[in-house]
Amino acid sequence: MSKNKVQIFDTTLRDGEQVPGCKLNTQQKLVIAERLDTLGVDVIEAGFPISSPGDFTSVEAISKLVKNATVCGLTRANEKDIQVAADALKYAKRPRIHTGIGTSDSHILYKFNSTQDKIIERAVQAVTYAKTFVEDVEFYAEDAGRTDNVYLARVLERVIKAGATVLNIPDTTGYCLPDEYGAKIKFLKENVKGIDNVILSCHCHNDLGLATANAIAGVQNGARQIECTINGIGERAGNTALEEVVMILKQHPYLNLDTNINTKLLYSTSQLVQQSMGMVVQPNKAIIGENAFAHSSGIHQDGVIKNRETYEIIDPADVGVTESSIVLTARSGRAALAYRAKNVGYELTKIQLDDIYPQFLKFADHHKEVNDEDIHHLMELNHISKSKIAV
Ligand code: KIV
Ligand code: ZN
Repeated sequence: MSKNKVQIFDTTLRDGEQVPGCKLNTQQKLVIAERLDTLGVDVIEAGFPISSPGDFTSVEAISKLVKNATVCGLTRANEKDIQVAADALKYAKRPRIHTGIGTSDSHILYKFNSTQDKIIERAVQAVTYAKTFVEDVEFYAEDAGRTDNVYLARVLERVIKAGATVLNIPDTTGYCLPDEYGAKIKFLKENVKGIDNVILSCHCHNDLGLATANAIAGVQNGARQIECTINGIGERAGNTALEEVVMILKQHPYLNLDTNINTKLLYSTSQLVQQSMGMVVQPNKAIIGENAFAHSSGIHQDGVIKNRETYEIIDPADVGVTESSIVLTARSGRAALAYRAKNVGYELTKIQLDDIYPQFLKFADHHKEVNDEDIHHLMELNHISKSKIAV
């Protein structure tokens, strides 16, 4: 793997699917898994096989189907979970077991009523056992975001020795600030023996709206895998959004980091996940929201009509959106009205535009949006017919 390649680990079907109301059946998961494989993700976390018979069946079916990506199954740090995951993954071309345990004081004390040393023992045992089934074992230090860095480094050094190939540093509660999370990755890169032989992975939650910023801080400091979901869905406020990190790396080439994602499939993949899960994203969602390439104020519309780049940093075609949209509202100017009228066949002269514009504003003041049908009606009222060559 090139030093500058960031692996995309998609957990839409595991962290994403555990969201209330987002439950999918096996058939729906297969459709999404096939699409993720085509999109170019490096790893598909297909589920948590021991959690239910349905999840086991889905992970097994996805393992048979996926051609390119590594297929991963989640476990806790115990033998039964690991055995079941290994069984569910047995048909995968590239199987990965993702095992781990909580490492923060709060997890050690309240979840496990244990001690730091005993947690290290359990972590090592889990990785050692997982290695008896598969070569590729990812270890997660749950709540690493709130784990003391020196202790975290001790845990990781031991699981690397036990054979872990990827180390996941989850900000499970979405607590970290970007510079704090970035510094954590840097500290681990500099202080863990053997770290250069494994991949560090960012798994960030969005409780403070920082999941994407934290993942980017992670890769800027040496992590080479990002765990993310389509549309940023996931436990509570969600995970890092795949489409966001991929486009950040693409739009900032000086970072010298890239992914294997075919960005032209981002919009349609987002639609597929929204429809299958019945979880519609907010219109202002970055990259794939309905308003991500819509311009409604007169000043912006005038700029975009003259040159798209005045108000857009991404070419919509790059993420599979057909074109930018000029939305007609009471905030729109003459340029936008002329542009939209031209799109439906009316080439307005300056005099016609000056006549119609006040009528348009009056109408727009009473409606959220002015659509093509309204434009036709306005033209009819003013006895304006379509130009010979409609554009
Ligand atoms: O958020 C988290 O810590 C997780 C782990 C199970 C990887 O989802
Ligand atoms: Zn998570």
